[in-house]
Amino acid sequence: MTSTGVPTPKALEATAVAVACEAAELVAEAANSERPATGTKSSANDLVTEVDLAAEALIVGRLGELRPGDGVLGEEGAAIEGTTGVRWVIDPIDGTTNFVYRLPGFAVSVAAEVDGEVVAGAVVDPTVEAVFRAHLGGPASRNDVTLEMAPPPPLETALVGTGFGPDPERRRRQAHLVARMLPEVRDIRRRGAAATDLCGVACGELDAFYEEGLNRWDFAAAALIVRCAGGLTTDLAGGNPTPEYVVAAAPGLHEVLRLRLSALGAAPAPD
Ligand code: IPD
Repeated sequence: MTSTGVPTPKALEATAVAVACEAAELVAEAANSERPATGTKSSANDLVTEVDLAAEALIVGRLGELRPGDGVLGEEGAAIEGTTGVRWVIDPIDGTTNFVYRLPGFAVSVAAEVDGEVVAGAVVDPTVEAVFRAHLGGPASRNDVTLEMAPPPPLETALVGTGFGPDPERRRRQAHLVARMLPEVRDIRRRGAAATDLCGVACGELDAFYEEGLNRWDFAAAALIVRCAGGLTTDLAGGNPTPEYVVAAAPGLHEVLRLRLSALGAAPAPD
């Protein structure tokens, strides 16, 4: 506990891991059962299932027991004004389309912010039994093995992850950009869950990742995990990552990719 009564980042990380693992169990069980009832949100490509809702309810309920008075922001509508200075930013299933189609690569993401800064986070991907975790000032780990990002390759031989948001206009922009980026890198991956893509950068499955227009719950925990593994996660201008843009890679490659994206016409998402 700090002198202000707010738990330490390490304690918040433990809470994030506990609730994310519990929710991931629920999601994994559902993934082995019948296809869930599925609806759409902002567009026909923006899916939500009964399992997203159940997992979010579980996380919000557990946090209410463990940390009464904290704020919560959740993908499926949770919005609790807190009184403690701590706010939880949660995505009950990042990669819902993978989940619906029974593809691997979806995860529960739980981050803790203190006075607006992400200080702890957990990303739990039940499809590969991976628990990623980190807290500000500490190491990042995957299944308790510390992650330290290796020196990056040059952009020409980098494997770069990206994603496409559900909005058709944004997709058009993203398609133009990816067409220009593809000949300049080793290859592109669109795996379908930004949180696991970012954790993939932290653990060396990808050399870099970029995406326009993510939501805070998609990247809050995983961007911290990249930073704690020795990487950089910024927006297009080099500031903190934002819902407008997220660019992640090891130092050296990160700056080259960020500048190349801008040169190829990437622009922050309009509101
Ligand atoms: C989506 C995934 C996807 C990314 C989209 C997100 P959701 O999140 O992270 O990889 O490309 O932009 O909306 O809807 O599955 O939680």
